Amino acid sequence: MLAIETRELKKTYVSSKKAPGIVGGIKSLFSSEKTYVEAVRGVDLSIQEGEMVGFLGPNGAGKTTTLKMLSGILHPTSGHASVLGFTPSQRKPEMLRQISLVMGNKMQLWWDLPAWDSFMVLKEMYEVDEAKFKRRVDNLIDALQLSDKINTQVRKLSLGERMKCELVAALLHSPRIVFLDEPTIGLDVVSQKRIRDFLKMLHREDNCTVLLTSHYMQDVQELCDRVVVIDHGTVIFEGTLESLTNRFSDVKRVRLSFSEPVDAAYLTKYGRVVESEEALAVIEVLQTETAAVMASLLQHLPVADVSIEPVDIEEVIRSLFTEGR
Ligand SMILES: Nc1ncnc2c1ncn2[C@@H]1O[C@H](COP(=O)(O)OP(=O)(O)OP(=O)(O)O)[C@@H](O)[C@H]1O
Ligand SMILES: [Mg+2]
Repeated sequence: MLAIETRELKKTYVSSKKAPGIVGGIKSLFSSEKTYVEAVRGVDLSIQEGEMVGFLGPNGAGKTTTLKMLSGILHPTSGHASVLGFTPSQRKPEMLRQISLVMGNKMQLWWDLPAWDSFMVLKEMYEVDEAKFKRRVDNLIDALQLSDKINTQVRKLSLGERMKCELVAALLHSPRIVFLDEPTIGLDVVSQKRIRDFLKMLHREDNCTVLLTSHYMQDVQELCDRVVVIDHGTVIFEGTLESLTNRFSDVKRVRLSFSEPVDAAYLTKYGRVVESEEALAVIEVLQTETAAVMASLLQHLPVADVSIEPVDIEEVIRSLFTEGR
């Protein structure tokens, strides 16, 4: 079953044109001049139940706007969205009970209260029954190693601890669909890893559908089977990460070590020499010629070891955006 489906989904933000200063501000109240930002320009998504999909794109591409429309916070300007069969903008309680939106740069917990108090309020709000709540909250707190933090005022927690509390709060009601908008933003690598491992486990155990945005490729590589890439409000790629790298990278990197030093000059005829240092070298070879080049290298040079390095996904994405393919 499709958990999320959109057709020609669009959002244009409209605001009054405002000249600088207080006078400008007052004038804008009476003027009819508007500015329009076409944040999302006709996005089609089809996400199956249980999928974990990466939603990628540069700053301002329209990711957060799309997630807000899918979770019913924003009304689309036009087009159609369906989430678990509901129209998100109608905000039916039945739908809201089954989804969750986590934003890495916007805390939803009460700042002056311990996280635990917020959890209790959410439990009432979502009408989670006592026994289920107990089991769920214990599991989540355990998985995120939070037991000694939940009674501290949220404002006193570190960024990583706060993010973990946000996740518990967002997942208490066992949503079937989880929208994660940069859940690891600003965290150190260890905390990022913890959150990733947690999300992996959550996805496995709950079999929930997850749509995740992140600027950290590691998140996407480890978590997502499939990616949707948007730029300027339109989808420019949809498929597996592997097919993304295959399609947008026409070179492979071959790392070689030699049993004796080899002059870089001997290597240039095989491809672009990226690194060369005595008995080590990395060359970039056209994907279509990889096999032939490897054979020739092995035949003509004292190769002790050879490996083909995976294409750097960050580089692929960067070239995708800058070349605007
Ligand atoms: N409330 C708003 N009013 C006017 N324009 C907005 C508003 N919110 C977002 N925009 C604009 O809409 C476009 C898309 O913004 P959005 O936040 O969806 O991008 P994003 O893909 O989430 O980017 P990022 O990776 O930086 O989070 C941007 O040009 C942004 O400036
Ligand atoms: Mg965003």
